[in-house]
Amino acid sequence: MDNPFLEDMLAGLQRQPKTLSSKYFYDKEGDKIFQEIMNMESYYLPSCELEIIEQKTEDIAKQIGSTELDVIELGAGDGVKTVKLIQGLLAAGKKVNYVPLDISPDVLETNKSNILKQLPQLSIEPIAGDYFKTMQKLSGRTKPKLILFLGSNIGNFKGQSGVDFLTLVKKHTTAEDYLLLGADLKKDPEIILKAYNDPEGITARFNLNLLHRMNKELNANFDLANFKHYPYYNPISGTCYSYLISLKDQKVEIADSTIFFQKNEPLHTEVSQKYSLQDLEELILAAGFNGIESFLDTKEWFSLSLIR
Ligand code: AVI
Repeated sequence: MDNPFLEDMLAGLQRQPKTLSSKYFYDKEGDKIFQEIMNMESYYLPSCELEIIEQKTEDIAKQIGSTELDVIELGAGDGVKTVKLIQGLLAAGKKVNYVPLDISPDVLETNKSNILKQLPQLSIEPIAGDYFKTMQKLSGRTKPKLILFLGSNIGNFKGQSGVDFLTLVKKHTTAEDYLLLGADLKKDPEIILKAYNDPEGITARFNLNLLHRMNKELNANFDLANFKHYPYYNPISGTCYSYLISLKDQKVEIADSTIFFQKNEPLHTEVSQKYSLQDLEELILAAGFNGIESFLDTKEWFSLSLIR
């Protein structure tokens, strides 16, 4: 079997409790629904991060010694926020070469055209592929790097895998490089829960789209009406969990396998980790980085942390 999507889904559906990887949310439809999430009133993360970029990029730039920078963005997405960040770096006198990395070549095209509309002179070198493969290509670069990992994407790594990922990033950096990490902070639990439980049902559609994707690509026969989106936030650990709850006893075919669900059985699909400033410090020290300075929005809901 040479289909990582099928292998991962089957392994996850055969596990107890059933657990799927949220990295498969992002097919064409998933990208579109995620865009809707980013525009939701209750999904405060993008506006908080944008406020920090607009208000604090100059301060961030002052902390970075080198004038010439390779700005390398992991999971670059559409580049809308990054334009503002690069504009801020340029205004602070930096010379920037932008290297967006993303798994989706389509998204990289959108990224490039969005950025060039506003910064037609900027040098852009997009690289398509998954984090682990594309990061190998960074080691040969000689200019000082500012690595961007924005949008609280770090929060989607489960447990130790977040530390492992940052350890890998660290392996591809030298003493003159920096990492700028966007992370969602612990706050009033109701605000967090609402971000993942919007009344319009957009996040529910996003979560259910994973089943739809399996129907389309893996010849599965999930009936989406038989599953309900259920998010849950634990304020002690700072983890927001998303589940799909089976509404009845049912069996589902996927490729040549049959999967049984009991009524009320949860299928775990995503974690979205929230951090205190101390959690962030512990995280980066565990990954082998040396120091962190965090820049916050006025509500103190989100952090952009500059890491050495
Ligand atoms: C991409 N990631 C940071 C989002 C998050 O907040 O965990 C994905 C998401 N899932 C539901 N809403 C948004």
